[in-house]
Amino acid sequence: NDTAATTGQYTPPAHHLLHSGYSNDTLRRWQSSNTELHPHNFVLPLFVTEDVSGEIPVVSMPGVSRYSIPALEQYLPSLLDDGLTSVLLFGVVPSARKDSVGSYSCAAGSPVVLAIKMIKTKFPSLTVICDVCLCAYTTHGHCGELHEDGSINNTASVNRITAQALAYAKAGADVVAPSDMMDGRVGAMKQALQREGLSGKVSVLSYAVKFSSSFYGPFRDAAESAPAFGDRRCYQLPLGSSGLAHRAAARDVAEGADMLMVKPGMPYLDLVRSVKDAFPHLPMFIYQVSGEYAMLHHGAAAGVFDLRKILSEVFTGMRRAGADVIISYYTPRVLRWLKEDH
Ligand code: PBG
Ligand code: ZN
Repeated sequence: NDTAATTGQYTPPAHHLLHSGYSNDTLRRWQSSNTELHPHNFVLPLFVTEDVSGEIPVVSMPGVSRYSIPALEQYLPSLLDDGLTSVLLFGVVPSARKDSVGSYSCAAGSPVVLAIKMIKTKFPSLTVICDVCLCAYTTHGHCGELHEDGSINNTASVNRITAQALAYAKAGADVVAPSDMMDGRVGAMKQALQREGLSGKVSVLSYAVKFSSSFYGPFRDAAESAPAFGDRRCYQLPLGSSGLAHRAAARDVAEGADMLMVKPGMPYLDLVRSVKDAFPHLPMFIYQVSGEYAMLHHGAAAGVFDLRKILSEVFTGMRRAGADVIISYYTPRVLRWLKEDH
């Protein structure tokens, strides 16, 4: 033909021909190992309240609600039916419960403790992960206790956060997940669990690689946990630092973390890959946070892309980067889609 005549025919060598390797669905699956999406790859974060008003929508996260314990009891069966295996609990309490040290985080009657007990009684097959942090319980909204000058009191914070983790462990939590970013909290928790005879039953999922991100905005609305002053840059990681990310992961592994997390998700896939490569024997979690949820929701609502297709692409990318487990507010929808595909 004409083009060939003017350009000269290029004949690629046989080993440059790739199409042959992915010409049907089965072949495409073979080329995509460890990127499959199954129900057990997803964890649903849940906001639990102590009021009795049932289900209250979170305005900044369309489709997400906060639940009272009775409302949660009504909500869970359909999710279990769709294959839900695990939840991540966050407590939300009114300001009257808050003080400068976050003492209600350890209370026997806190919404998280009550939710754990309800779930373990009514839905024992569900694996319960509990976020451990003070920011939803302190009047100042920071993740730890503070010195007079407003800086973090790391020792006092670790003590209280460890007590919070123990309260959840004793109530029946399977996994405690410190998101506070204090130094040394993983070791303190592992030791305390061991002391209490719970080390064989309760594991620690460390939010080891958690950045000081602008993607947490909608969550702070939902959990009423925004800092009253300042920001979290003295304890959450600087956005550009893969060095600190790796040091934090290595430290938490050395302190006995059972599982690791990178958070947020999409902008940090480079670290999912490199931390997974550094610690291939620990399950790697990725948290698709509130801002990512809202961004994809609004993008789909504006017609930029189809929600189901974009989520499939995003989650496949997370798995390809090395995530074993994805924490996502989209979990209920994903479970329904996975069920339809079968
Ligand atoms: C509390 C906590 C936060 C998130 C999880 N645990 C907020 C923060 O650190 O400011 C963010 C989750 C999300 O944005 O979906 N320490
Ligand atoms: Zn916090």
